[in-house]
Amino acid sequence: MESVSHEHRKFSPNADFVKNAHISGEEAYRKLYEKSLQDPEAFWAEAADELHWFKKWDTVLDDSEAPFFKWFEGSRTNLSYNCLDRHVAEGRGDKVAIHWEGEPGDARDISYAQLLREVCRFANVLKTKGIKKGDRIAIYLPMVPELAVAVLACARIGAVHSVVFAGFSADSIRDRVLDSETCMVITGDGGYRRGKMLELKKIVDEGVADCGCVKDVIVVKRGEEHPVDCPMQAGRDSWYHELVADVSDECPAEEMEAEDLLFLLYTSGTTGKPKGIMHTTAGYQVYSYLTSKYVFDLKPDDIYWCTADVGWITGHTYIVYGILQNGVTQVMYEGAPNHPDEGRFWEIVDKYKVTIFYTAPTAIRAFMKWGDHWLDGKDLSSLRLLGTVGEAINPEAWMWYHKMIGGECCPIVDTWWQTETGGHMLTPLPGATPTKPGCATVPFFGVEPAILNDEGEEVPAGILAIKKPWPGMLRGIYGDPQRFKDTYWSKWGGRYYFPGDGARRDEDGYIWILGRVDDVVNVSGHRIGTAELESVFVEHPDVAESAVVGIPHDIKGTGLIAFVTVIEGRAHDDHLRKELVGMIDKSIGKFARPDRILFSSDLPKTRSGKIMRRLLRDIAEGKELGNTTTLADPSVVETLQKQYSEA
Ligand code: WT7
Repeated sequence: MESVSHEHRKFSPNADFVKNAHISGEEAYRKLYEKSLQDPEAFWAEAADELHWFKKWDTVLDDSEAPFFKWFEGSRTNLSYNCLDRHVAEGRGDKVAIHWEGEPGDARDISYAQLLREVCRFANVLKTKGIKKGDRIAIYLPMVPELAVAVLACARIGAVHSVVFAGFSADSIRDRVLDSETCMVITGDGGYRRGKMLELKKIVDEGVADCGCVKDVIVVKRGEEHPVDCPMQAGRDSWYHELVADVSDECPAEEMEAEDLLFLLYTSGTTGKPKGIMHTTAGYQVYSYLTSKYVFDLKPDDIYWCTADVGWITGHTYIVYGILQNGVTQVMYEGAPNHPDEGRFWEIVDKYKVTIFYTAPTAIRAFMKWGDHWLDGKDLSSLRLLGTVGEAINPEAWMWYHKMIGGECCPIVDTWWQTETGGHMLTPLPGATPTKPGCATVPFFGVEPAILNDEGEEVPAGILAIKKPWPGMLRGIYGDPQRFKDTYWSKWGGRYYFPGDGARRDEDGYIWILGRVDDVVNVSGHRIGTAELESVFVEHPDVAESAVVGIPHDIKGTGLIAFVTVIEGRAHDDHLRKELVGMIDKSIGKFARPDRILFSSDLPKTRSGKIMRRLLRDIAEGKELGNTTTLADPSVVETLQKQYSEA
């Protein structure tokens, strides 16, 4: 963080970029921003007018039941229509929607018209399986075109998709399936990752074994070249390619109501139980469309590439919905950035002449570590705009990105947002906002941020708050309206949205994100609740208690350190450590493995019994310990410190 508070460099977009941008110059941004706050309804109605509606709205914003806000009530629309049919109807059917590239090097170009036909076919398959509006469908697929097709087919008929990132474990699938009573799972036999096939279907089988609600499992065949062991259960499982062969490629888009549920996406919070974040139709549609258009300055000739997985919100909004609504061509890549070698991403940029590139700080730091020689011979001159998302980017990584990838002439949009916000909230507009390395800068249109203390007073550094509703906002937590209110709206008495991040404002009014203020951490851009790991560890019969903290990590941004107290007399050795890691793999997924597990005889607690995580972080970071006077037993930290340095 120190390097961030001393960062004073400022980079203005070049004159050419400014001249051609949708939002051109700081003054243009300021004027439109003011308008968006003064008359949000007019602002959002104007944006919505650029899209297709079966019926227009009666009201733009209904806040009568806050925090259950409603947007564009009375309208009827369909996201898949706006992503596909609209472009075909307006003569853009032959344009490439997706240049897809598999990890082994296989590739497919899919036009908007083809994508529409595929989506219609699969939507018809869903119908023949009895899927109706409102039914929940889990999608557990690698980054293949069928993932986008499945998502859009759900949207087309009003089924609610719940995409589960294909790195999650069988237990995670089960939790999500049961929480939302999913009646179908769409998966693949496998998916490529670093030259190996992940056996996805087997994970699904294990996950849904006891889920009576799942009636159908549809399986996309990815392992043609490398056959995967994929047992099919009669009466429940069917092959995607066989089903789509038998149905029509026409399927009219269902007229959806504004607040009809579009999707669920589970994300981590401060308890052990992930929350099913709810996004609905019309507001999300407009917000994903407009943020994509302005933040990525999308133009008809752009070749856009976002390296995220559709399993996260970034992929939902900035691979599928926002980007396709804008009708541009994008690259979709299945695999790892270092397969077959560390130059793969730059080879793809060069091959497809990518103009806009959106990735995560953790990836940028990995590239820096792998070395600049991977850029040799790769022509990156097609790039005109770069973006980052997922966590704060350290200025060193920002400068490397700016220089080595952007050739010092591409603006960088550092976009702060969340699963809950649906789309960008704080971000530079590339043709308008001078950028600073490591800074998410200014609010998007209609977004009114504030930095507050616990009492709700404005302070230069404190807790980030969002003062006004915005169309892309979450509408709830599935099945738990009380948790929705408690988590996001109780901090300042129901007045403002509480995102859970700390922030400060600098002399130019720019906002710098300082990281989470709750027990949520971002490991390599993956959001993990420390309580999720803790609740896994204590399931082990030899474990009495555990506390997990996040500490700075060179590549991942944050690394996880687990303190585990073992029951008196039980062995604490590498064997137990392996068992605990195995439990994390099984309950959450390999990406949530802690970097270190430290066995401790006790944990530092206040006299009221609360674990002092701040002290654990200090110990893990090897720092001077802060105030220990409130500890019930001060000797505990000394022992821990000693154990930590010796381990
Ligand atoms: C949390 C949300 C947004 C899609 C990916 C993550 C952190 C995200 C930034 C950024 C600083 C960031 C925040 C936020 N975060 N982007 N540009 N600068 N922090 O979505 O899994 O819902 O996580 O990611 O802490 O609260 P998510």
